[in-house]
Amino acid sequence: AFAANPVNINIDAGKPGPVISKYVYGQFAEHLGTGVYEGMWVGTKSNIPNTRGWRNDVVGALKELHVPLVRWPGGCFADTYHWRDGIGPQNKRPSNVYGDKVEEINAVGTHEFFDLIDMIGADAYVNGNVGTGSVQEMADWVQYMTAEGGSPLARLRIQNGREKPFKVAFFGIGNELWGCGGNMKPDYYANLYSNYEHFLWGSEKSRPKMIASGGSGFDTSWTQVLSKELKDRTIGITVHQYTVPTGKWEVKGRDLRFKEDEWISTLANTLKMEQLVKDHVAVLDRNDPEKKIGLMVDEWGTWYDEAGARSALFQQNSLRDALVAALNFHIFHEHAERVTLTTIAQMVNVLQAMILTDKDKMVLTPTYYTFQMYAPFQDAKSLPLAITDNTSYTLGTTTIPGVSASAARAKDGKVYLSLVNTDPHKAADVAVNVSGTKVNGAAGKVLTSAAMDAHNTFQNPQVIKPAAFSARAAGGKLSIKVPAKAVMVVALEE
Ligand code: AHR
Repeated sequence: AFAANPVNINIDAGKPGPVISKYVYGQFAEHLGTGVYEGMWVGTKSNIPNTRGWRNDVVGALKELHVPLVRWPGGCFADTYHWRDGIGPQNKRPSNVYGDKVEEINAVGTHEFFDLIDMIGADAYVNGNVGTGSVQEMADWVQYMTAEGGSPLARLRIQNGREKPFKVAFFGIGNELWGCGGNMKPDYYANLYSNYEHFLWGSEKSRPKMIASGGSGFDTSWTQVLSKELKDRTIGITVHQYTVPTGKWEVKGRDLRFKEDEWISTLANTLKMEQLVKDHVAVLDRNDPEKKIGLMVDEWGTWYDEAGARSALFQQNSLRDALVAALNFHIFHEHAERVTLTTIAQMVNVLQAMILTDKDKMVLTPTYYTFQMYAPFQDAKSLPLAITDNTSYTLGTTTIPGVSASAARAKDGKVYLSLVNTDPHKAADVAVNVSGTKVNGAAGKVLTSAAMDAHNTFQNPQVIKPAAFSARAAGGKLSIKVPAKAVMVVALEE
């Protein structure tokens, strides 16, 4: 039975707001653990079926995910990476030990990266090395990738097998300059950034959009300095924010077999993204009222204890991660005007991954399915949505909203509504009223399971996956029962 006092959602389909950039659904692929090697790249001699070294199962799954953007090669890896080690005949490339002291074989370099993203249909966000690189090295890399011809670096690229320039949609000048990128202060980096950006030449057509690497978490000092100093020199300032169940880096909390206290603390911690975005946006609104600079959350997601992990930062991924992803999407949609790009950490086998691999086996995670269900939101027009009479979910001293929702008119013309119920015990009855159009029903997918830590394994890869869902409207109102601990995306039938 439907509750007498449902949660009410009002959507105004007649007043579309800012477009939710497809780049909000970006991915991050770093040379770290088995994120690139093993997880995606196995080399042409591998028994695992591959195309020019990239495993076919993973490429196929990423294609179906409609990945719009991939950030590469790091992260902290980018802060010490020398791109020249990764070009030319693979058997002649040097092995090197970059900053993280792990041997890098350089089988995957610039050409291989672009081969991957061409196969999956994504755009490139290449991250340059400010930490141990030089202005010249970075300028050369941008030239190598994007010059039309008539330059020695373009000729070198052609000699290495790529006639046409690569399309670099975005280029990041450094990473975490406050930490692994060089322990700098924002003023110092602002000067460095100007220096680097000045020499990253390119024609209007081929020059990547330049991104400044910002701060971490609630520290807005980097956003403050960079948005003041780098006007017209950057289209975005990044921020990194991870979700740690306990809120403490020393003992973060487990990926599986957690109790309800860590279910709620994880969701409560992830919801802090809302205030974080507001804080950074307030700084941008002051310094950049013309709204030329985006806030780019280019590292986000869950980070659990690594104990016994199969490779660095490998963690399992459960229904809880699906809710984390969906709650963050709702926050990003809400701030679509400023949050113009995000890349979750990371795509394969590292942190909150879409895909996990073990030798020739591959498994799709609940986060994969969440990204897939939300694909219609890419480049959709956000719609105003208000929730009244919301439920709440409380455990101990923590209370979070029960229902979270977002709506948009997608490029296929349909209105999509996404819903999250954070309560692990109770279903939520939601009455949806849509003005500006007549709604007859809704159909889509729901992702849920009996266990909070439901997850797919290499032995049982189908434990949790989306199921079909539909609802009817009566008297112009849709009645939707959102199961406990669930993520749902439906298209409205108008
Ligand atoms: O995503 C893992 C690491 O976290 C990245 O290399 C770094 O930028 C951040 O500290």
